[in-house]
Amino acid sequence: MFKALLLAKDEAGFRAGVTQVDEARLPPGEVLVEPAFSTLNFKDGLALTNKSPVVRVWPMVPGIDGAGTVLESSHPDWKPGDRFVHNGWGVGETHWGCLAQRARLEGDWLVRLPAAFTPRQAMAIGTAGYTAMLCVLALERHGLAPGAGEVLVTGASGGVGSVAIALLARLGHRVVAASGKPQSADYLKALGASAVIDRAELAAAGKPLQKERWAAVVDAVGSHTLANALAQTRYGGVVAACGLAQGMDLPASVAPFILRGVTLAGIDSVMAPRPLRGEAWSRLARDLDPALLETMVEEIPLEDAVTAAARLMAGQVQGRIVVRI
Ligand SMILES: NC(=O)c1ccc[n+]([C@@H]2O[C@H](COP(=O)([O-])OP(=O)(O)OC[C@H]3O[C@@H](n4cnc5c(N)ncnc54)[C@H](OP(=O)(O)O)[C@@H]3O)[C@@H](O)[C@H]2O)c1
Repeated sequence: MFKALLLAKDEAGFRAGVTQVDEARLPPGEVLVEPAFSTLNFKDGLALTNKSPVVRVWPMVPGIDGAGTVLESSHPDWKPGDRFVHNGWGVGETHWGCLAQRARLEGDWLVRLPAAFTPRQAMAIGTAGYTAMLCVLALERHGLAPGAGEVLVTGASGGVGSVAIALLARLGHRVVAASGKPQSADYLKALGASAVIDRAELAAAGKPLQKERWAAVVDAVGSHTLANALAQTRYGGVVAACGLAQGMDLPASVAPFILRGVTLAGIDSVMAPRPLRGEAWSRLARDLDPALLETMVEEIPLEDAVTAAARLMAGQVQGRIVVRI
């Protein structure tokens, strides 16, 4: 038996709670792992609060991310004692996940834990931080270099936003954070933001072309915020779109693309191929200041995950929630 957070949905409705589960109930997979830490990303928040249809198979052990130790393996790349980090691949959605003392995963899903990080630090980064790195890699591939001008980060006090700010500032960019939390301004500046703007400035419908300001954008918010960010991006600039905290819609025009040569780069972490994951985790090991990472962390026990998920969905969390299994 092992301890797990279990989500159930049936005639009796939706339930979420920590319980003991028989190891025989784990799904098939080449590698049996013991996650030492997991985390709550936006998607975990949706799953744990049953807010949108993230979970496709019931009952479900949630937790899209985990980091810890391999216990058993039939995969050639993994042996007992190896330290791993896992992000995405539909785990916690269609396959039992890492908010549990045991998980059975495919060997090809796992990434070797970089020597620079403990499992706890890897989960402080989590899918949110690894996605922030994917966004930075996309901006760089489209030519962003330090000195190019201001880089906007939206959803700034959230997980993706916090890590993106820390990374971009460390790489020498001038970062402007857009946040709805005035109380987080000092936190965002300590992460490296040179200025903080009210997210309300970007939240409503705006003109298709506006005054050029941003050399690049990391957007975790979507909807009008992404449309306005595109409309304010400078000639030849690039916008990495990874999130939908405001909405899934994109009420924009083609004007920024055809009149200013702006590039919209889509970012997906869930199905990102292994070489890209490896590159992202190596760059995180190089470019993320562990001391700054620690300022983002709120650590909770597994038993508090459901209440923390409700806070996350209510927009009351700053930075990253790490779950001690
Ligand atoms: N593409 C991918 O593979 C991928 C991977 C990870 C995450 N994501 C997406 O990226 C987004 C951020 O994820 P996360 O883990 O960083 O979530 P998070 O920690 O909950 O942060 C989201 C932030 O967005 C801002 N926000 C919330 N509601 C908003 C609204 N109505 N309008 C404008 N801003 C709002 C808040 O920041 P402020 O209070 O500072 O404004 C909040 O802290 C989510 O939509 C998530 O689904 C996508």
